[in-house]
Amino acid sequence: MVAVARRSQELDAFAAEVAASGGTIIPMPGDVTDRVAMDELVSTVEARHGAIALAFLNVGTFFPDSEKDFGGDGFRKTFAVNVEGTINMLGPLIRAMRTRGRGQIAVNASVAGYGGLPRAIAYSSSKSALIAMCESLKFDLDRAGITIQVVCPGFVKTPLTDHNDFPMPFLISVEEAGARICSGFESKGFEIAFPKRMAFTLKAMNMLPYGLYFALLSKFTGR
Ligand SMILES: NC(=O)c1ccc[n+]([C@@H]2O[C@H](COP(=O)([O-])OP(=O)(O)OC[C@H]3O[C@@H](n4cnc5c(N)ncnc54)[C@H](OP(=O)(O)O)[C@@H]3O)[C@@H](O)[C@H]2O)c1
Repeated sequence: MVAVARRSQELDAFAAEVAASGGTIIPMPGDVTDRVAMDELVSTVEARHGAIALAFLNVGTFFPDSEKDFGGDGFRKTFAVNVEGTINMLGPLIRAMRTRGRGQIAVNASVAGYGGLPRAIAYSSSKSALIAMCESLKFDLDRAGITIQVVCPGFVKTPLTDHNDFPMPFLISVEEAGARICSGFESKGFEIAFPKRMAFTLKAMNMLPYGLYFALLSKFTGR
């Protein structure tokens, strides 16, 4: 399995950890915001290691924001990483898989993309874009023999959420999230959403009239 991230040292440590338990990780350092580099990376992986059967586009970033941050550096970085970074990977992957008429791609969005959440202006809107992108792509990719999936996790304990200064209901471990995602890959269903209570609650809230949606979220989050 090939793993991509920017920090080589972290990738090497990850590869060593996996090797100690009998697995293999091939570290490929790269920045998903670099379009040309991602085109080259996909070609290099396929030339060296064979056709990519399954790609998990996991990279994403988050910072709690407010209207004061709107359009600023953090806001633009969130879109550059979450949306453009995913597009930079999706493009060459789809082109390569289309020629073979098979392949599987899973995009990591979030339950925060079901609708606009307070203190997540950039994050919610970037993840909504990913969900809609995958929904739209599905019509064409089904015909091309490519499985597209969208992953919508609730809160998972990672370095990303370790900085959060607000309550995180139904927080789960990385191990549990990993198991849910892997079984979702096997099922090949369009959406891999977990924990169910979190996903169901937010989906149900998004079906409410806006008056109720805003009132409930304000009550739960104090915003
Ligand atoms: N944690 C949660 O509660 C939660 C909930 C829902 C969805 N998600 C989504 O799950 C995904 C992973 O989140 P996480 O919590 O594991 O985040 P994380 O702890 O911050 O890890 C992010 C990973 O992405 C890599 N990365 C960041 N920017 C990159 C870039 N420009 N190019 C290449 N690699 C980059 C990082 O490595 P380097 O820094 O070395 O590049 C790191 O390995 C994200 O899409 C996030 O939105 C997370």
